Amino acid sequence: MIKKGIILAGGYGTRMSPLTKAVNKQLLPVYDKPLIYYPLSVLMLAGIKNILIIVNKGQLRQFRNLLQDGSRLGIKITYAEQSKPRGLPDAFVLGEKFIGKDNVALILGDNFFYGQSLTKKLKSCLSLKFGCKILVHPVSKPELYGVAITDKKNKILSIKEKPKNSKSNLAITGLYFFDNKVVNYSKTLRPSKRDELEIVDLLNIYKRKKKLSAEYLGRGGAWLDTGSLDDYYNTSIFVSTLENRQGFKIACLEEIAFKNSWINKKDIKAAISFYGNCVYSNYLKKLIK
Ligand code: G1P
Repeated sequence: MIKKGIILAGGYGTRMSPLTKAVNKQLLPVYDKPLIYYPLSVLMLAGIKNILIIVNKGQLRQFRNLLQDGSRLGIKITYAEQSKPRGLPDAFVLGEKFIGKDNVALILGDNFFYGQSLTKKLKSCLSLKFGCKILVHPVSKPELYGVAITDKKNKILSIKEKPKNSKSNLAITGLYFFDNKVVNYSKTLRPSKRDELEIVDLLNIYKRKKKLSAEYLGRGGAWLDTGSLDDYYNTSIFVSTLENRQGFKIACLEEIAFKNSWINKKDIKAAISFYGNCVYSNYLKKLIK
């Protein structure tokens, strides 16, 4: 059972400059809350309470101001600083001590997931004992992502990072589940031409050992990413449309913690005074009415 998760919230977010010049991309708003609330909510929905957040050097305080040590959400958050972006697998090198002897989930700090059966799916992925599981989802522009080619039985035949002409429209989303071998495998990787450790190289190690499998988010699920400015704003529109129509918030961390019985009404009241007078607090007030 996977009980630990890493959120990779480093990177310079250059594609979104100048928005990201002074503020980490993961702290920018997606409609009514900072972007990092969304990947954090995914780990919390899965039931993961022990979380490492990897941030850029010098940005630790910004994240701590928002999330502290996680206790206000009934979880444990620790932080690690990355001196420069060295690629996604660097998360497992930096996170070696945090991971210890356990298996681990990794989610990219700018990924957004939504869907009816998401929690159930996540929980089933957490039962992984050996190997690596990736979550795949169709996209109209596969050339922007890591892509998986699968056969009729959903077996992964090959994976490629941002292929120019792909036969497959199945993108590899930024949510991965690994056994403990990931730490040692990551240490054997060498930087690619763009001078970064590549997640696809890591996944290919598992593939060669026949230990790589895929889970599908399913047609009703939404996977959005905030890579470009347009995608970023579209994600905000998606959240505002659903929230205003339904009256439910997406990625309200306190609500998830409350429903998981990790925090109580008193903690929600403390959250209301932490956030102050705002729409988010009004939503929290309704929760404990
Ligand atoms: C990274 C990964 C890619 C994956 C994507 C998901 O790409 O390298 O395989 O499909 O995240 O968001 P990047 O966003 O760094 O271009």
